[in-house]
Amino acid sequence: MNVVNNGVIDGKAVAEKVLAECVGEINSLKEQGVVPGLAVVLVGEDPASRVYVASKVRKCAELGLFSRKIELPKDATQEEVLAVVEELNADAQIHGILVQSPPPKHIDEDAIVRAIDPAKDVDGFHPENVAKLTLEDHSGFVACTPAGCMRLLQEAGVETSGAEAVVIGRSMIVGKPMALLLMSKAGNATVTVAHSRTKDLAAVCRRADIIIAAIGMAEFVTADMVKEGAAIIDVGINRVEDASANRGYRLVGDVAYDEVKDKCSVISPVPGGVGPMTIAMLISNTVKAAKQSL
Ligand code: GUN
Repeated sequence: MNVVNNGVIDGKAVAEKVLAECVGEINSLKEQGVVPGLAVVLVGEDPASRVYVASKVRKCAELGLFSRKIELPKDATQEEVLAVVEELNADAQIHGILVQSPPPKHIDEDAIVRAIDPAKDVDGFHPENVAKLTLEDHSGFVACTPAGCMRLLQEAGVETSGAEAVVIGRSMIVGKPMALLLMSKAGNATVTVAHSRTKDLAAVCRRADIIIAAIGMAEFVTADMVKEGAAIIDVGINRVEDASANRGYRLVGDVAYDEVKDKCSVISPVPGGVGPMTIAMLISNTVKAAKQSL
């Protein structure tokens, strides 16, 4: 199957390739008596989070992984969430723990992340794993979305070495780890991290051979911000009202896809680009955690 069709990167095809690699490892672990297990914790009722959590659990079932979904009400206390994390840290059937972000406002998310056993932190959000990424210690876990973006670039044949890469957004979930991956020995790119306070963002973006758009604003990157032939990875998932759509909204990325598509060399679409990769990398991290538990 082609990974790139008319300049559009097929995230689903790349995700299937990653998952096919995982299946081999899952079978080998099972022969050694270990079934990789993932626990997904959802606090509250955020509808988007609910959808993401359900698809993570479904993917585990499809691939023969053990999974547990723990749902806590929106008024769950910090202590209750921490107690769940402690129980999962001690559960030998669980190799990966993910607490879906964002939790309700009264929850201290940093404290929850720090309570997760770093060896089970398949999100790669624990300070120990962030440090390992910075140190290029490959025993750690890399956050799933940026890891998925790197794999998309690689599979699409985009040369990162020596390239000017601009990451738009500096979040702990995407922007920061993305910049670290691109500048690492694996990426060898020259990286600029742009954000809401960047002066003349359009000019900064126009320098880029590679743009990673992760700012969380619908169709923010327009054609005038893109150099001819640039490679674009769109991490955004934004709902915009659309009376003609069944649900009353449609999903768009952080890139104005229609006007940018013909200017760039390759682009990841929304949906069908980064989204499927995030789950594939989560499964991959869970398999890695199970292997390291042996
Ligand atoms: N919310 C959006 N992306 C993610 C992710 O990768 N992990 C978790 N835990 N929550 C998220």
